[in-house]
Amino acid sequence: MASVRKTTPKGLMNPKLEAAINEQINAELYSSYLYLSMSSWFDSTGLKGFASWERIQAMEERDHAMKFFDHVCARGGRAIMKAIPAPPSTWKSPQDAFETQLEHELKVTSLINNLVDLAMAEKDHATVNFLQWFVSEQVEEEENARNTLDQLSMISQEKGVGLLYMLDKEMATRVYTPPVTTTS
Ligand code: FEO
Repeated sequence: MASVRKTTPKGLMNPKLEAAINEQINAELYSSYLYLSMSSWFDSTGLKGFASWERIQAMEERDHAMKFFDHVCARGGRAIMKAIPAPPSTWKSPQDAFETQLEHELKVTSLINNLVDLAMAEKDHATVNFLQWFVSEQVEEEENARNTLDQLSMISQEKGVGLLYMLDKEMATRVYTPPVTTTS
């Protein structure tokens, strides 16, 4: 009968990067929680399109966590599940929610950049390469939040309930697209 390995073999995953990526798994799962919370809040306001958009965003954040999870496992490390902090549950307006979203994505971008810096300092070329997907993804994540915030700002200036209704219909068209690969 084949033996089962009980410990992580030495010399595979760099311990500093293993710890930092574990923090990132938690941060991505928090992102998923945050956007799921926004989805519920939008649903309660009657903006079903925004609710659907945020629900898909939450699914994509879980995919991000799983990409990090798979990378740690593939490198011989351990993904350790830690408590996920509770996100806010209400916002003052759609604009307030998307201000939270943009602020959060800017923070995630800085976390990804810090990971790249660490991977380069530790000469972990495989992880530097793996992280490039996230560097590009963050450009899109920030752009999405900024574009929607800009549209919401224009609508609030015009006091246009009809325009908000139209934007809600547009948000409803977002389709969930899983990442091309689930591993690094
Ligand atoms: Fe996983 Fe929204 O960044």
